[in-house]
Amino acid sequence: MITSKSLIAYYSRKGDNYVGGRIVNLPVGNTEIVAKKIQELTGSDLFRIETVEIYPKDYTETTRVAQNELNENARPELTRTVDDMDAYDVIYLGYPNWWGTMPMAVYTFLESYDFSGKTIIPFCTHEGSGLGNSERDIKKLCPNTKVKLGLAIRGGSVKNADNMLQSWIV
Ligand SMILES: Cc1cc2nc3c(=O)[nH]c(=O)nc-3n(C[C@H](O)[C@H](O)[C@H](O)COP(=O)(O)O)c2cc1C
Repeated sequence: MITSKSLIAYYSRKGDNYVGGRIVNLPVGNTEIVAKKIQELTGSDLFRIETVEIYPKDYTETTRVAQNELNENARPELTRTVDDMDAYDVIYLGYPNWWGTMPMAVYTFLESYDFSGKTIIPFCTHEGSGLGNSERDIKKLCPNTKVKLGLAIRGGSVKNADNMLQSWIV
């Protein structure tokens, strides 16, 4: 029997963030909450995309750093790599919407492996912009990869997202 192995790779930032119109301190990032729910539902392996340089706890400062990184098309260095990416056919890729796309750390991640012939299933958390341009940007970075329709969840709704996730995961 051929079994298909899946990985959930996600970036998420804890600390102050903008949720439902106000700044809230998130001890666990919104995207991480969703990633763990997907793990419970699918039994996939979990990989946290982490940058060497930590972003500020302050929301506004982080938006400035992130905007500079986007303008410079930066590739922030990551702390570690997936041991055996070849073993995975399906990658659930999670991230917050930052300035209309993925954090640049996710760009670094996507350029670190060959995703040819694999399937990427994006999911993102956001404050109104949904997936933004991220699906298009993933396709640009991974031209030989099947990119499935992504799921966008508002930051304030992640704790109640179980039913939505259940019907999204096939
Ligand atoms: C640097 C930065 C930029 C953001 N840009 C957007 C944006 O363009 N559109 C949007 O809807 N939300 C934006 N947000 C809000 C986040 O997408 C949202 O709070 C998300 O749930 C955070 O996920 P996390 O806790 O997993 O990091 C931004 C947040 C940050 C910190």
